[in-house]
Amino acid sequence: MEQKLNTLQTEAHTQLSTVENNAQLEDFRIRFLGRKGLCSTVMKELGSVSDKERPRLGQMANRVKNEIEALYDEKRQALLSGLNGSSIQEDTIDLSLPGRKPEKGRLHPVTQIMNEVCSIFENLGFAVAEGPDVEHDHYNFEALNIPAHHPARDMHDTFYISDSILLRTHTSPMQARIMEARQPPLRVIAPGKVYRCDSDITHTPMFHQVEGFLVDKNISFADLKGVLTVFTEKMFDQKLELRFRPSFFPFTEPSAEVDIACVICEGKGCRVCKRTGWLEILGSGMIDPEVFKKVGYDPEIYSGFAFGLGIERIAMLKYGIDDIRLYYENDLRFLSQF
Ligand code: PHE
Repeated sequence: MEQKLNTLQTEAHTQLSTVENNAQLEDFRIRFLGRKGLCSTVMKELGSVSDKERPRLGQMANRVKNEIEALYDEKRQALLSGLNGSSIQEDTIDLSLPGRKPEKGRLHPVTQIMNEVCSIFENLGFAVAEGPDVEHDHYNFEALNIPAHHPARDMHDTFYISDSILLRTHTSPMQARIMEARQPPLRVIAPGKVYRCDSDITHTPMFHQVEGFLVDKNISFADLKGVLTVFTEKMFDQKLELRFRPSFFPFTEPSAEVDIACVICEGKGCRVCKRTGWLEILGSGMIDPEVFKKVGYDPEIYSGFAFGLGIERIAMLKYGIDDIRLYYENDLRFLSQF
């Protein structure tokens, strides 16, 4: 009996020292400490020893069993805390660990501003229309009173696909497309991508514009001014002074470029507004009678205004960003700020 207890103790030590994972530890527990395990078997044999020996052997058996239990517990703790190199963690799922957070995506700042601009005009009753990026020379130029060899074509740095097909250089072709297809009254905005062969800190070869135009009887420059005043107030969340600067576009007469009081320095003069106190935000004007004639509208009956604004530019002003290229470098540190 004494011999058996000693062997049991040594064996337990030896087997436990080879245990490296949960499964092996469980085997050990069943073999030594289980209901039909080696410890219970030895304990049962106590019944058949002599009365004289029983107390001493009983004590000894208890001591051995307690020791094996203690060794087992120690090993279990070691595996759990990973002290033992390879560990229980491999086959245990810790349900208390916090989960991995999926990264939240968000809309690109240009898309956000685009949506905001569109919704302001939609609230003013404008309908949204979209047209092709790959456009006919006819709609991009001819229909807008810019014939071949007109010097105004030089302003556009056009990407040509063939002699008569190009990437639209502005969203104004949508004026001609919509007017050709529908009759006044019209109140339309046309958001989309436009392309110009140009690239520096204020230009990218692709950028976004929103075209807006309104055609009806008795439309005057005052209506243009009213709509743009409401728009800038909503867009920049403040009352802003507007400045209409005489300009030239072949498809509007008169034409004006519109400036707002600098949102950064409030008109005092800073780097962003180049010390002028004003920021240019869009081109606009009264639709030229020549454009009406080309789509079959009678300029004696109808008049209208049109404007075209650059989304990246508005986003730059709104967020105080001085390099337009940041929008297209896909640096998440930049994009996730919006
Ligand atoms: N299409 C012009 C541009 O891209 C802007 C504009 C639109 C001007 C409508 C007047 C009327 O520069």
